[in-house]
Amino acid sequence: MKIARFSRIGFILAAAGSAVGLGNIWKFPYIAGEYGGGAFVLVYLLTVLLIGFSIMIAEMLIGYLGRRDTVTSFEELAPKSKGLWKFGGFQAMAGLLIMTFYSVVIGWIFNYIITSLSTLPATVEQAEQTFGSMLHTDIGTQLFYHTVAFIWITYVVNKGIKGGIEKMNLVLMPMLMVILGGMFLYAMSLDTFSKALDFMFMPHWEKINANAFVVAVGHAFFTLSLGMGAIMTYSASLEKNSNLVKNAFWVVFLDTLIAIVAGLMLFTFLYQYGSGPAKGPGLVFISLPAAFYEMGILGNIFAVLFFIALAFAGLTSSVSLVEPMVQYFIDRFGWSRLKASISMGLFFYLIGIIALLSNIDGFKDSLTWGDKNFFDWVDFFTAAVMLPLGGLVMAVFVGFVLPEEQVSSVMKSQLTWAYPLWRFSLRYITPVAMVLVILSLVGVLS
Ligand code: PFF
Repeated sequence: MKIARFSRIGFILAAAGSAVGLGNIWKFPYIAGEYGGGAFVLVYLLTVLLIGFSIMIAEMLIGYLGRRDTVTSFEELAPKSKGLWKFGGFQAMAGLLIMTFYSVVIGWIFNYIITSLSTLPATVEQAEQTFGSMLHTDIGTQLFYHTVAFIWITYVVNKGIKGGIEKMNLVLMPMLMVILGGMFLYAMSLDTFSKALDFMFMPHWEKINANAFVVAVGHAFFTLSLGMGAIMTYSASLEKNSNLVKNAFWVVFLDTLIAIVAGLMLFTFLYQYGSGPAKGPGLVFISLPAAFYEMGILGNIFAVLFFIALAFAGLTSSVSLVEPMVQYFIDRFGWSRLKASISMGLFFYLIGIIALLSNIDGFKDSLTWGDKNFFDWVDFFTAAVMLPLGGLVMAVFVGFVLPEEQVSSVMKSQLTWAYPLWRFSLRYITPVAMVLVILSLVGVLS
C-alpha cells in the first residue's frame, strides 16, 4: 500500500496545528495570570524545555520508527518478550474523549462568529447573560454548531493525511497567524500594552508553589498535544531521514510563541476596554466580547476575526485528536478510511451530546457526579490522568525498553551533545514529574 507522507512544512504546520488550540488562546493567558505571571511563565518555559521537548521528540521517534497506528507501533518496537507494551498505544483513546467536549466548545465559537457580526454585548453582565443562556438553556444552537463541527472534522479526516489534514493546516495555520499577528500589532499600539506585559512577565514569586508546578506540567502536555498519540500518529507519516529534533523545536516554538502573543493581545484589550483579566471560559466568551463592544465597529471586525482564528485553532487540533483512532481501525482491522472516520466521528458526536446536555438546566443534575458534571469529568480525567500516563509510558518506553542502539542510531546525530541530557530527562526527570502530576491532580498528595 502506498502511504501518503507529509511534506516537511506540512508536517510542521500540522503538528503545530495540533498543538496550537483552545489551550493556547484562552487557557494559557488565564493560568499564567492566576499563578504568578512572569514566575509561572518561567516555570512553564522550563517545563516545556526539560519535559515537553523531550517527550515530543520521544513521541515523534515512536511514530517515526513504528510507522503505523499507535498500538502497532508500540507492539512492533517492543522486544518480543514484552508484548504487553502494545497497550501503551491505547493512549490514542484519550483524543476521542477530549473531542467530546472540544467539539462542543468549537460549536460555541462558531456561534460567536455569527453573533459577533451583529451586536456585541454592551456590558460584562449582558455578556455573562448571553453566554449563560446559551450554555444552560439553548440546546438547539449548541447542537446545531456541534453538528457543524462534527461534519467539518469528519470530512477532513476522511480525506486523509495529505489531502485532508495537511491541506487544511497549510491554509488555516497561516491565516490564524496573520489574524493573531495583526491584532497583536494593533494591541502593541495601545497604552495598556505595557500593563499586559507586566501582568504576563512580572514575576510574583510568592504565587509559585507546588501546585503551580503541577499546573505547568499538565498544561505543557495539553498544549503540546502530548500523551495521546496525536504527534505519534502524524510522525508515522514523516518522510525517511526527517530531522525530529528540528521538527519538535518548531512545534514547541510556534506553540509557545502563539500562547504568549495571544495572552498579551487579550490582556491589552481587556485592560484598555474592559474589566481587566478574567478567568476561565469567561475570558474569551464573556469579558472579551464586552471589551470589543467598546471599540465600536472595529470591535465587531476584531471579534469576528478573533473567533475565526480561535475556530481555526480548534479545528486543526481536532483532526489530530481523531486521527489516531481512525488510523488504528484502518491498520488493525482493515477498515476503509470512510468507515473509520464516520465511526470515530459519530462516537465523539454522540457522547458530545451528553457533554452538551450536562450543562443544560433540567439535565444537569442527572449528569453530575460529585463536584463535576459529565463535561468537566471528561476534561479532568483526560488532562489529569490519561495525558500524564501516556507521557509516563512513552518516557519509560523510549528511556528503558527500546533497545539503545535503535534509539541512538536516529537520535545521536540529531541531538549531538544534548543526547545524554535527553536520555536523562526521559529516564529520570519526566517519569518522576509525571507520577507527581498524576498523584497530585487526582488529589492523593493534596
Ligand atoms: N493542544 C491542543 C490545545 O492546546 O488546545 C489540545 C490537544 C490537541 C490536546 C490534540 C491533545 C491533542 F492530541
